[in-house]
Amino acid sequence: ELTENTIIVVLGASGDLAKKKTFPALFGLFRNHFLPKDVKIVGYARTKMDHEEYLKRVKSNIKTPTPEMEHQLDDFLELCTYIAGQYDQDDSFQNLLKHLEELEGGREETNRVFYMALPPSVFIPVSQHLKRNCYPKKGIARIIVEKPFGKDLGGSRELQAALGPDWDEQEIFRIDHYLGKEMVKNLLILRFGNTFFNATWNRQHIDNVQIVFKEPFGTEGRGGYFDEFGIIRDVMQNHLLQVLTLLTMERPISFSAEDIRDEKVRVLRCMPPIEPGNTIIGQYGKSVDGSKPAYKDDDTVPKGSRCPTFAAVTAYIKNERWEGVPFIFKAGKALNEQKTEIRIQFKDVTSGIFKDIPRNELVIRVQPNESVYIKMNSKLPGLTMQTIVTELDLTYRRRFSDLKIPEAYESLILDAIKGDHSNFVRDDELDASWKIFTPLLHYLDEHEEVVPMEYPYGSRGPKILDQFTESFGYKFIENA
Ligand code: BG6
Repeated sequence: ELTENTIIVVLGASGDLAKKKTFPALFGLFRNHFLPKDVKIVGYARTKMDHEEYLKRVKSNIKTPTPEMEHQLDDFLELCTYIAGQYDQDDSFQNLLKHLEELEGGREETNRVFYMALPPSVFIPVSQHLKRNCYPKKGIARIIVEKPFGKDLGGSRELQAALGPDWDEQEIFRIDHYLGKEMVKNLLILRFGNTFFNATWNRQHIDNVQIVFKEPFGTEGRGGYFDEFGIIRDVMQNHLLQVLTLLTMERPISFSAEDIRDEKVRVLRCMPPIEPGNTIIGQYGKSVDGSKPAYKDDDTVPKGSRCPTFAAVTAYIKNERWEGVPFIFKAGKALNEQKTEIRIQFKDVTSGIFKDIPRNELVIRVQPNESVYIKMNSKLPGLTMQTIVTELDLTYRRRFSDLKIPEAYESLILDAIKGDHSNFVRDDELDASWKIFTPLLHYLDEHEEVVPMEYPYGSRGPKILDQFTESFGYKFIENA
């Protein structure tokens, strides 16, 4: 664990990710006294800025609703400095080194954490220059990296090969920010800490599982980036697959990072590549009232783009626990609501005394409004034997109203400072996850005749969606 003599260097400090996520998270950790003693935070990017301008940028996404927080922010800003430099020149990194050494006051043993909030194009040169120029002589070095980790298995391996010789796997922290979300971190506890879940967690009792990601906004302003990747690479191959992995892996031997990640890799390796036939893709058009633009109205998007902004994809796990259970991923931008949730639908109650009684469904809502609830059948109270669908409901806001749920990035940066890899993606895990999606992605890229179905901005997605989920066994359960 890094408790002192630490500098955190944010590379790409003038960019969006740093502004929106990294600095607010660092501030959150700072004000709760989670950062190492006397830590310094150095920003590095190409944009030339003076100190004041830089601080304004750092502050721009940090909310300080109370005077106490305003003070804390002033103290936080005292730790922040900025160096402008190129991403591919030794001179620039030597300049950064000089600055780090000044801050370290000539100490020999120092710890440096490099947070790469960078576009993929400069990722490799920066990691190489850092190693050459700024690696501590004595002390701990860590490098935190952000997706995209390539565009397919080949690209991911190239990236890994470039990083590999310079950085030891123990020094690398690959962020998938979904692993920092409270409810995702809860999955192993829910499953293995509760006998009744644990006992029913298999193909004998579970009929189908959906992992759903919905956003009510389009690619506004990010069309250029997004068009190269599409929704499957943007959220499914990483975030949603990570959720699936935690949901389906076997019990780890312990909660240690390597034991957890060993089991994650094992279950991923039981998943065959996704079949193009088990996939639908969509792209949003204008909203029905015409007020919201179509994906292709974005100037940064090529005219004839076939990029999917929506996808539904069914995957299978070939092992004793899960053989035959469809895992349906659904993800889309510009839909009717914001929601990430897991829906686990249990098998039908065996017939006999009941006619048409609905199945149980367990819903784990990751965001917004974290909750876990089970749709279950109960007797309607009164002089009747009528059944009713009701809910066993754990809504965090009600049950834990006095607890603050941390931001995913706070949780992950703290883990990286502690040196805990449990919630970071290991190299073999990344490899296994790309193997599942790469053939499908190549198929979609290469087959020009596969055109995404259009859906209106603000709708539930392509019309065919319900038919798709039903074809894999999902049954809609109406609430009473
Ligand atoms: C990012 C994607 O990784 O995750 C974005 O690039 C997406 O397109 C975001 O909006 C979703 O994250 P969250 O935490 O808002 O659900």
